[in-house]
Amino acid sequence: MCGIVGYIGTKEKKSVILGGLKELEYRGYDSAGLAVMTDNCGCGSDIAYFKAVGKLENLEKKTANFTSKGFGVAIGHTRWATHGKPTEINAHPHFGEYSFVTHNGIIENYKELKEYLEKQGVKFISQTDTEVVVHMFEYLNRSEKDPFIAFEKTIAKLVGSFAILIITKAAPDKIFFAKNAVPLIVGKSDEDEIIFSSSDAPLIGLAKEAIYLEDGMYGVAQMGEVKIYQQKKLITCTPQLLPADKSYAQKEGYRFFMEKEIYEQSQVASETLMGRIKYNKINLEEINSQIFDDIDEIVLCACGTSYHAALAASYLFERIAKIRAKVETASEFRYRDPVLNKNSLFVVISQSGETADTLEALKIAKNAGLKTLAICNVDNSSIVRLAGNVLLTRAGIEKGVASTKAFATQVLTLWMVVLYIAQIRKTIDEETLHSEIKALLHIPQVLNIPDGLHEKIHRMSKHYLHGHGFFFIGRDIFYPLALEGALKLKEISYLHAEGYASGEMKHGPIALVDEGLFTVALLPQNVLYEKTKSNVEEIAARDGYVLTLSPLEFELSDDFIKTSKQNHAMSEFFEMMVALQLLALEISIRLGNDVDMPRNLAKSVTVE
Ligand code: F6R
Repeated sequence: MCGIVGYIGTKEKKSVILGGLKELEYRGYDSAGLAVMTDNCGCGSDIAYFKAVGKLENLEKKTANFTSKGFGVAIGHTRWATHGKPTEINAHPHFGEYSFVTHNGIIENYKELKEYLEKQGVKFISQTDTEVVVHMFEYLNRSEKDPFIAFEKTIAKLVGSFAILIITKAAPDKIFFAKNAVPLIVGKSDEDEIIFSSSDAPLIGLAKEAIYLEDGMYGVAQMGEVKIYQQKKLITCTPQLLPADKSYAQKEGYRFFMEKEIYEQSQVASETLMGRIKYNKINLEEINSQIFDDIDEIVLCACGTSYHAALAASYLFERIAKIRAKVETASEFRYRDPVLNKNSLFVVISQSGETADTLEALKIAKNAGLKTLAICNVDNSSIVRLAGNVLLTRAGIEKGVASTKAFATQVLTLWMVVLYIAQIRKTIDEETLHSEIKALLHIPQVLNIPDGLHEKIHRMSKHYLHGHGFFFIGRDIFYPLALEGALKLKEISYLHAEGYASGEMKHGPIALVDEGLFTVALLPQNVLYEKTKSNVEEIAARDGYVLTLSPLEFELSDDFIKTSKQNHAMSEFFEMMVALQLLALEISIRLGNDVDMPRNLAKSVTVE
């Protein structure tokens, strides 16, 4: 996810901005940039800007001969590409004639705004959604002749998520800022300097306290003063004490990155959906809709957690889009001389975009002339570069080796593709499509972790530190979720865990059931409840220890996580997913393991 930094003060601005961006590196990025306004020559303000693709070192090299003396304002940005490739032109800050902007988030209605501005003669140079902000600001400032009012009116026109900083020669000692749905923090030092950032790490050491801006807040800052507005009214916000430890701050108060990433799922799910649903229709502008013409089969290919996302989606492709769906483990697909059908769409799913087996599978499909689509989290990765079409999952960098938010966004993206095909092929009626879209839009809410759930799972986790292993069981889409729950647990707890389709138990695995075997049973209300329940009863009858996840009480459970009553199976899916992630996390913490860097595992598996 992008990072944003701003500074008003007398320190060397470039160094402050670069230092701040370094602290935000953990968020992940593929290009960076900064702009500094100074009055070095005493003849009026001037803005210098620099951008570089890749690591911050590249930006450091570009700015090596630049310094700024005395008072000034500056903004900086690390960009995680969402609209447009990671190029210098697309890197922030974006500029107009006399102003510069940095932005985190996604401006959903940028196309409409851009079209309007283009009609007024404004020229755009980047492919980003962000550039529209600076041009709109300057366009409105032409008539308003008051940069604050122009800024306020610009913000009012934006739909989407944003943390925005603008510097402008029209107000050379100020930074204009706004926040909606992505984080923005502002602090003041003892010397009256003002520092903005996406998280508190860059502020630590410069300021003792900070204001964590809330959605809908915007304003203007100058040396020693931050004016914050909400709904056009000046408001007062109480600063909070900043943490003293930077690595703690990077984890935003969580003990592990995995924990932070579990909690981020609601927000990143909103980003995944953003701009892709318009007027009650799925709108996947990034892909050529013709890739679905003449297709009679979807082949989904991936590894590990991404494979589980593929498997879950395969049920949806057949049930909703009425198209045959096959799921392939990439490492197997590569060497089994697969017979490929020219009318298949080959879909690879990968968080990193660098997994060697998945990449090679994609090459095989491409060479065989198949249409290809990548569902990936990292723009410009090898898989993204190779695939014919790409949908980015927009989960932001995932640092925990055990994948959580990437999985959630993969399933969400695949569900959107399913509905897109259903929409094109009219395999479901309008009413069903609308209720599916409603369910899709409800997922960010489902992913909010309810009060008490984490604590309950923490307390429960002490029951699971012994025994001879775990079964995770479920049916239908809850079978891949069971596989995923088992994988999460084994990766970070090193306990033996297997996922099974509930109906398979009596075909062998049930022989292992005794009082030392834990079964985690996924018992949703909306999918085959009675059938799964009787599978769980068979385990309970053999004295197995059962943890049930269900919205309906189940008296035979030894432990019970009550999920909410949902009217869509996918809502139940995502709610149970969060509980399984927290269970793995808490068991691992109790066992004293390194949650973020489990033994023997790597985040990106670039060898086969
Ligand atoms: C599990 C996990 C792995 C990855 C797998 C594929 O938590 O992260 O199983 O899912 O190595 O990686 P990507 O998705 O990067 O292709």
